[in-house]
Amino acid sequence: MMGFFDIFKSKPLEQEREVEQKTESDFSHFEEVTEYLYTRSGITDLGSRRVSISKLKSFSKEENIHTTEEFLSKLQRDSNFYQEVLNIVTVNETYFLREVKELEWLVSLVKESSRDFKILSLPCSSGEEVYSILILLSEQDIDLSRVEIVGYDLNSKMLEDAKKAHYSERSVSNLTPTQKQKYFMQNGDGTYEVVPQLKARARFEQNNIFELQKKNEFDILLSRNMFIYFDEAKRDKATDIIVNLLKEGGYFIKGHADTIYNHPKLEGVRYGVYRRV
Ligand SMILES: C[S@@+](CC[C@H](N)C(=O)[O-])C[C@H]1O[C@@H](n2cnc3c(N)ncnc32)[C@H](O)[C@@H]1O
Repeated sequence: MMGFFDIFKSKPLEQEREVEQKTESDFSHFEEVTEYLYTRSGITDLGSRRVSISKLKSFSKEENIHTTEEFLSKLQRDSNFYQEVLNIVTVNETYFLREVKELEWLVSLVKESSRDFKILSLPCSSGEEVYSILILLSEQDIDLSRVEIVGYDLNSKMLEDAKKAHYSERSVSNLTPTQKQKYFMQNGDGTYEVVPQLKARARFEQNNIFELQKKNEFDILLSRNMFIYFDEAKRDKATDIIVNLLKEGGYFIKGHADTIYNHPKLEGVRYGVYRRV
């Protein structure tokens, strides 16, 4: 038989169960979310990335969102939520001097010319590509004031990291000890921080390639290791946008793993490099 005090013990338990039932999540038709993210940001392989999907679901529960419908509606009306979701699902792997041959070619192009260059790294992730270019230009004693260099990426967290410019041992492992000593300050926590003279030369902006409308703006545009996450339709669209961003005669450098389609306004110059005609 239930004693007097048992009434007080059992009530909260019942209430807890009721709350649990009410907040039980139903993420059926979650492919609607991946479809939405594909349309807006171009990310195609999300549906097959089980870890990213389960991260998204845990994140939404933390945000007190328990159905696909609520998730979608918040994505559409809350830009901060959309940004946090993008920060979870984008793949940001990068490091210094990645695919360095094309970077060396870029530096020789600048060195052989006397004019100024406007360069875009799209996507720049946490900034390693931008600072690698600045390091290689400095190694050739090129006056950095001739070069304006900017990095764009979709992931706001990566851009914060790019601006801080603190890098791990792993990220700088392709640099020589002399380069590390010359272009970084070693912090107490073991990270390498880019020297202020180079930091001051780099600019970073958050942008989704599919929302860019600028035209004839850059002399050199690097787009490496982003096309691999796009399907053919998005790759074609991204190539059109890149062609528009380039000045006539400007250069597009793609990543080794990236596939692009033949474009009437792009002619091959050397492996992985195209010129806008
Ligand atoms: C693997 S990183 C490549 C970084 C660097 N270019 C490299 O080759 O090391 C891919 C980056 O693409 C960015 N990205 C994905 N979709 C994008 C989009 N629609 N617009 C701009 N950046 C995007 C991601 O946020 C991620 O930082």
